[in-house]
Formats: sequence, C-alpha cells, structure tokens
Amino acid sequence: MSQCQPVDAGLSRSATFLVFSILPTDSSIQSVRSVLSNVPDIAKNISIRDVNANLTCVVGIGSQVWDRLVRLPRPAELHPFPEVRGAKQTAVSTPGDILFHIRSERRDMCFELERQLMDQLGGNVRLEDQTVGFRYFDARDLLGFVDGTANPVGTAAISDAVIIPESDNGGDATAVGGSYVVIQKYLHNLKAWKALSTEQQEAIIGRTKSDNIELDDADDGQQQAHKTLATIEDAAGNEHDVLRDNMPFGSPSTGQFGTYFIAYSRKLWVVEKMMERMFIGHPPGLHDRILDFSTPVTGSTFFVPSLNTLTALGDDD
Ligand code: HEM
Ligand SMILES: *[C@@H]1O[C@H](CO)[C@@H](O)[C@H](O)[C@H]1NC(C)=O
Ligand SMILES: *[C@@H]1O[C@H](CO)[C@@H](O)[C@H](O)[C@H]1NC(C)=O
Repeated sequence: MSQCQPVDAGLSRSATFLVFSILPTDSSIQSVRSVLSNVPDIAKNISIRDVNANLTCVVGIGSQVWDRLVRLPRPAELHPFPEVRGAKQTAVSTPGDILFHIRSERRDMCFELERQLMDQLGGNVRLEDQTVGFRYFDARDLLGFVDGTANPVGTAAISDAVIIPESDNGGDATAVGGSYVVIQKYLHNLKAWKALSTEQQEAIIGRTKSDNIELDDADDGQQQAHKTLATIEDAAGNEHDVLRDNMPFGSPSTGQFGTYFIAYSRKLWVVEKMMERMFIGHPPGLHDRILDFSTPVTGSTFFVPSLNTLTALGDDD
C-alpha cells in the first residue's frame, strides 16, 4: 500500500492554508515540481526542532495543472470545483493550482514552514489566498458551535473515508494512496447570527450549542438542519463520511470572522453532493440556513497524491 500524506493529522491549535496558481512557463512548472517533491523533507527538518508540536504539511494539486505538473494519468474524479448556484448563495469556484495545508500545535512552526516554502517557490507562483486558522476553545467555530464532531475516528475509519485503496480503483493507479480535498473560505455575518436565539441557531446546525448533542432530523419536506443536509447516503443506504478539518480565522478589529472549510474524501462526488444539498436545498428551495449568515469567497478542489507520487515529482528533472 502506498504511504499517504499526513491527511489524518487531526485538528491542531494552528493551521495555515495556502492556495497558489503556478506561472504557466515550463521553467516555473519545473521549479515548482522540484519544490513539491521536497515538501516532506522541508517539513521534517522543521518538525524535529520540536517533535511535540506535530508539524505536518499536506500538498494538493489542482485539475488545471495536473497534466503538465504531474505527468501521470489524472485521478478519475479530478476536475475543477463546480460552481453551485443557489437561491440565497453561490458556492463560487476560484483558481488554485496548489494547496498547502500546514498544521501544528505551534504557530511559529507553521510560519517557518510557510517561510521556507516561499523562499523556494520564489516568483514561480501567484498567491490566490492565505488564511491563518486557530483553535477556538474546545474546537468551536466562530458561530459558537463545536465543529468536527461527526468526523470518522481512528486510523481505520479515517483511512476508509479518505484514502483511495489499492482494490477497486478501476485502473486509477495514480490515485492509490491519495485523496480528494475541497476547500472553501467562508465569511460570517456575526451580527445577524448573534441576533438569533440559541434555539434558532441550534435548529440551523442540528446540535445543541453548549453540550454539542445531536438533535432529531426535521420531518420530511421540512427545512433540514446543516448536519442533516451534509449527511450523504447512497441508494443502498450506506452513509459516506468525509474528514473535515475546518478552522476559525479572522480579526475582530477589522470585523472579519470566518470558517475555513476543508474536507478530505476518497470520493469527490460525496463532497459535491453535500454542496448541492446545502446550496440548492433538499428538497430544492430549502437551502442550508448557515448560508443566510455565511458567504463563501473561495472554492477549489485538489488531489492529494500519495507520498511516493509526491516525492517522485522531482525525479526526471
Ligand atoms: C460556514 C461553513 C460551515 C460551518 C460553520 C460548519 C459547521 C458545522 C458544525 C458546527 C457541524 C456539527 C458538528 C460536527 O459534526 O462537526 C457540522 C457538521 C458537518 N458539516 Fe459543516 N459547516 C460548514 C460548512 C460545511 C460544508 C460546506 C460542508 C460540506 C460540503 C459541511 C459538511 C459537514 C458534515 C459532513 C457534517 C457532519 C454531519 C453529520 O454526519 O452529523 N459543512 N458543520
Ligand atoms: C534538511 O536538513 C539537512 C541537514 O541540515 C539538509 O542537508 C537538507 O538539505 C535539508 N533539506 C531540506 C529539504 O531543506
Ligand atoms: C501529536 O501526534 C501524536 C501522534 O499522532 C499524538 O499522539 C499527540 O496527541 C499529538 N500531540 C498533540 C499535542 O496534539
């Protein structure tokens, strides 16, 4: 089994999310290829300065640049993030060739990894977005709810939800040991959210606020809570999990409050189905009411190749 990148590192105290486009010249593509193959080594060199800080970095590669950058068959489901136009909000699709998801217990370790990456990437990339997330008390988002509870727990369950297995890969050999990852940066209207009662907020999320207990689903045909809209069952009644590592970000003095959504999955269609149910609604018209208070300003899809595929990127140059 090919080793995977550290997608299962879990929620940390600090995280940095970096999305770049690569300049389209052959020399830029070649330089970036070589930097990416070094990322596990760069991360290791910094992480040994304090192993307890659990520094990790996951690299994702976008659909548009895949063929030129990776030069291996494209993972079967990989395509750009599809815009989802709902009545209330649109899930926008924004550019991004590479994603770095940096996590650590220490903010300075995330900073150092970002610094060394930038030294090496130089002028070969254009920054699309940089977001610094932090843990807010007991892993709450800035809406005040504990975020991440329904994630799969334990190595086997995480791997089952996230990592593309050797078996049943349908000839999708480059994808084995890899994962799809979808990101969206949301800004919250906290003033409007705080004008709701706690009961109204709980009905929107589908969990109680203080002790994080799951509430019953609404009746069929009624407006469903976020946790219900984001639960995906196939025709056979099997539930399909994803792994979310959302982080709060923002700055009270500038009035910016947000959630950086990030979900890993071995099946891209599962995350896309969640988006449709949230933005279009289920039934259509009854969208996720989180979207009455939150606006996505980015949306991109990447593939996270196995560690072997990543480190082999620099081989031929
Ligand atoms: C403003 C953005 C968002 C916020 C603040 C948010 C917050 C939350 C919270 C508080 C929960 C309940 C606790 C938990 O199980 O983690 C939750 C559950 C969940 N969310 Fe989100 N979420 C956001 C966007 C999304 C998006 C865009 C998706 C997928 C496309 C998504 C997928 C899920 C899933 C799968 C669950 C677990 C459902 C279950 O099985 O109970 N969320 N979210
Ligand atoms: C990691 O550190 C070693 C020893 O200092 C050095 O030789 C190597 O070039 C470093 N690798 C990276 C990718 O920075
Ligand atoms: C760091 O990672 C190890 C191994 O995965 C884990 O047992 C430990 O709890 C993590 N430390 C922190 C502070 O999260």
